[in-house]
Amino acid sequence: MHHGESVWEQIKTKAGVEVEVFFGNESYPDEITYKLVAAGSEVLKLPPEKILEAFGEHWVLHTAQEGYGGLMRAAGKSLPEFFASLPNFHTRVAMIFPKLQPPRFKTSEVTDRSLKLHYFSHRPGLTPFVVGLLQGLGKMFVTPVKVRLLESKAQGADHDVFLAEWEPPGMP
Ligand code: HEM
Repeated sequence: MHHGESVWEQIKTKAGVEVEVFFGNESYPDEITYKLVAAGSEVLKLPPEKILEAFGEHWVLHTAQEGYGGLMRAAGKSLPEFFASLPNFHTRVAMIFPKLQPPRFKTSEVTDRSLKLHYFSHRPGLTPFVVGLLQGLGKMFVTPVKVRLLESKAQGADHDVFLAEWEPPGMP
């Protein structure tokens, strides 16, 4: 989704956010994220979940690849390899951002075409962001991935559990 500078200014104004330039190596209060998502949802007339999903996909396909290409490449040459390194991913990121409060990921029931991804975070509401990140990874590896939420923290589960499914390479 590309909407240009003036729409961005509108969203920031509505959110009451006065930061002129966001620096990639600085951290910002979570409140800013939530306010920007809510304002983006109003201005673009899209549900907040769609904004977060699009943000996740954009983040992987653009921000991560352009800003942290080395880290991304080191994490795997294929979607399954990348998934396998996700549980340790932010440990490396924490070397760049010492104040990081990263999410935790765990995988289970791994096959050559699916796995369960467990997502632990102290931040509420970011489930659709994770869906977008996973879909972005599928696009990045040209391995389209289907993501389904099996257990939801918002609905009382201990943490979110996603089922990720993809076509293994070389299938007829
Ligand atoms: C080079 C790539 C990456 C970098 C540099 C990075 C860095 C970060 C940073 C700085 C935060 C904010 C945490 C804080 O402010 O304390 C964050 C949050 C997050 N990251 Fe990453 N990350 C990367 C890749 C990924 C990938 C591939 C995924 C998952 C598929 C992911 C999932 C998340 C999620 C879901 C959050 C939101 C915070 C939360 O859930 O509590 N990140 N990441």
